[in-house]
Amino acid sequence: MTDLSSLPRPEPRPGLEHEYAELGARLNGLLPCVEWPLHLPWIDAILRLKAMRGATILAHSYQSPEIFHGVADVTGDSLALAEAAARCDSAIIVFCGVQFMAETAKILAPDRTVLIPDPAADCSLARSITAADVRALRRRHPGVPVVSYINTSAAVKAESDACCTSANALQVVESMASPRVIFLPDRYLGQYIAAQTTVKLILWEGSCEVHEQFSAAQVRQTRAQFDAQIVAHPECTPEVLAEADFVGSTTAMSGWLRKQRPSRVALVTECSMADNLKAEFPDIAFIQPCNLCPHMQRITLPNIYACLRDLQHEVTVDPQIAARARQSLDRMLAIGRRDRV
Ligand code: 13P
Ligand code: SF4
Repeated sequence: MTDLSSLPRPEPRPGLEHEYAELGARLNGLLPCVEWPLHLPWIDAILRLKAMRGATILAHSYQSPEIFHGVADVTGDSLALAEAAARCDSAIIVFCGVQFMAETAKILAPDRTVLIPDPAADCSLARSITAADVRALRRRHPGVPVVSYINTSAAVKAESDACCTSANALQVVESMASPRVIFLPDRYLGQYIAAQTTVKLILWEGSCEVHEQFSAAQVRQTRAQFDAQIVAHPECTPEVLAEADFVGSTTAMSGWLRKQRPSRVALVTECSMADNLKAEFPDIAFIQPCNLCPHMQRITLPNIYACLRDLQHEVTVDPQIAARARQSLDRMLAIGRRDRV
């Protein structure tokens, strides 16, 4: 075990601003400027500790900019992070995201130590359904395959035939080669996919507490007031999606921006995503009808530091559940990403 007594404390060292000038420039405009000097000592301490531990930090696109740009080794959507975990060769993975994502990383990298800075980082979709619910659905619809969104617990994945993300949901559903598929738990993503396929989807009543808050009236007002293009995540309601110029997964949204280069855009999704993208698209004005995911926001620089320092909050998954969940995840990974714009 590393001797932690000699580790630098997260207090400013002389010259830090100069040492991290490039990062400071990248974060300029992504954060209120008063925050940068407060974050800097934590970023410095985490990067040093990460190197000492030989750890890799994975961070979801909904993490705040000081994490996404400041300390992460790999950033992306849930599919990208699952793929990164599967091929990660560090002994320790620190997962900056929510619990179901960290569990997925553990299932795909069973011999790595996976840590989550705050184990209470939950998800309303993952909470909406249990393994017993899936077994009951199977009894009600015998022989119908189950596709579960990655936003589910390991136990639900274990009861499923395949997993998907918004980057491949349509292709995973169609790969079941069945006229009917049980699709869970997000009813809005399910409705969005159902409109694109002849497969009849049996849906669950789950929803994302962040995306379902957007309203069609709010989107119409944003377009009228700011003359902005509207880009929405398929976890939004059908009424919101009907107002959008483009609907796509987290990664497809940034692909669309790269291709279309609108002068003004409203990303109808979690707020940090637009903050993070400002660095790549300084020429685009992001109008932010802002909804933050309270679960994603539980991850902070201080709890990343503590998690690395004390190797705390290890993610564990029952090996039998993990083995069955892995089959569902492998089926998804074999299909891969299908959201190229
Ligand atoms: P992605 O699969 O696009 O990363 O989204 C995950 C999520 O939680 C969306 O709210
Ligand atoms: Fe879950 Fe919604 Fe938060 Fe994504 S944004 S983690 S779906 S609650």
